[in-house]
Amino acid sequence: MEKTYKADCGRYDRMEYARCGNSGLLLPRISLGFWHNFGESDDGDAGRNMVFSAFDRGITYFDLANNYGPPPGSAEICLGRILHDHLKPYRDELIIATKAGHAMWPGPYGDWGSRKSLMASIDQSLRRMRLDYVDIFYSHRYDPQTPLEETMTTLADIVRKGKALYVGLSKYPADKLKEAVEWLRKMQVPVVVHQVRYSLFVRDPETELLELHRSLGLGTVSFSPLAGGLLSGKYLSGIPARSRAASDSPFLTPETVRNKQGQINALHEVAFSRGQTLSQMAIAWQLRDDRVCSVLCGASSADQIQENIGALSNMRFTSSELNRISEILG
Ligand SMILES: NC(=O)c1ccc[n+]([C@@H]2O[C@H](COP(=O)([O-])OP(=O)(O)OC[C@H]3O[C@@H](n4cnc5c(N)ncnc54)[C@H](OP(=O)(O)O)[C@@H]3O)[C@@H](O)[C@H]2O)c1
Repeated sequence: MEKTYKADCGRYDRMEYARCGNSGLLLPRISLGFWHNFGESDDGDAGRNMVFSAFDRGITYFDLANNYGPPPGSAEICLGRILHDHLKPYRDELIIATKAGHAMWPGPYGDWGSRKSLMASIDQSLRRMRLDYVDIFYSHRYDPQTPLEETMTTLADIVRKGKALYVGLSKYPADKLKEAVEWLRKMQVPVVVHQVRYSLFVRDPETELLELHRSLGLGTVSFSPLAGGLLSGKYLSGIPARSRAASDSPFLTPETVRNKQGQINALHEVAFSRGQTLSQMAIAWQLRDDRVCSVLCGASSADQIQENIGALSNMRFTSSELNRISEILG
C-alpha cells in the first residue's frame, strides 16, 4: 500500500450530485455506508481500498453510526485512521455523517434519544473519528420514551456547539417526523435529510414518506438498496461462504435468501436484458425517481463499489420493464 494517497483527478466526472431536499447541500447519488465490513475483522487494507475507490469515483458521502462495526465503534475508528493517515487534505470534499440512538454502551444512557445519551455519543464519535465536527449528525431512530422536544433541542445544541453542520433523522414514523422537523425549524436548525429503508423488496416509503419528505423539503437517503446483498449477483445460485447471509447475520438469513430465490433470478433476467447487473438495476430503479436524493450502499470490496456506480449509466426504465418488475414482485 502506497504511503501517500492522491485522489484521482477525474473523480467528479464520474458521479452525479443531487440537492438534499431544499438545502444547499449536494450529495452524491450513490453513497457509501459503513454498517458492516469496516470493523475489526478488516485487516486495514480492505476498508482503505473501499474508501479510496469510492472517493476516486466521486462518492463524497460516508455514512456511519456510533454502533457500526462490529464491534460497535470500530467503523468510526477505522474511518478515523484512514482520515488521519490519508484523507486530511480532502476533509472539505467529504460529507461525514454519524448517528446515535441504537444501543452503544451499557447502562441507561448508551441508547435512544435522551440529552445525556446524544451529547455523550457525539463526543465519543468525534474522538473515534479524530474529527472536530461531522457534516451530518442523525438521530438514528425515534425514541417514544423521551420527549421529542428534548431530543430535538439536543440536536440543535450539537449544531450550535459546532459539532455538526446539519441534522438528519432516521426511521422516524411520518407523524413524528413532521413534529420533529417543526421543532428543529422553529429553532432554525438545518434539518436536511431523512433516512429510510427502501429497495425493490421494501417499498413502504412509497405510501407516504417519499411525498412527505418532498413537502417538508427534506432529502431522502435510502438505505439497504440491495436488501443487504439479496438484490445483487451474489445469491443467484445459492449462498456463497463469504457473504452476509452466511455470517449468522440477523439482518439477512439463509431462509430469506431461499424465499426470494425465484424473484432474484427473474429480476436478474430483466437487468441482463437492460445490459446491467442486478445490483446496478436495483440502484438505478431508485435513482430514476428524483425524490430519492442518494442511495446508500454497503460493500465488502472495492469491486462491488465500482460495479454499483455503473448504475448511473442507465437510469431510465421502459414501461414494459417496469411492468415486468411489478409482475415479478407480485
Ligand atoms: N439509518 C439506519 O437505521 C440504517 C440501517 C441500515 C443501514 N444503514 C446505512 O445504509 C448502508 C447500507 O446498508 P446495507 O449494507 O444493508 O446496504 P445494501 O447496499 O443493501 O447491502 C450491502 C451488501 O450487499 C452486497 N453487495 C453490494 N454490492 C454488491 C455487488 N456489486 N455485488 C455483490 N454483492 C454486493 C455486500 O454484501 P457482502 O458483505 O455479503 O459482500 C454488501 O455488504 C449502511 O452501511 C448504513 O450506512 C442505515
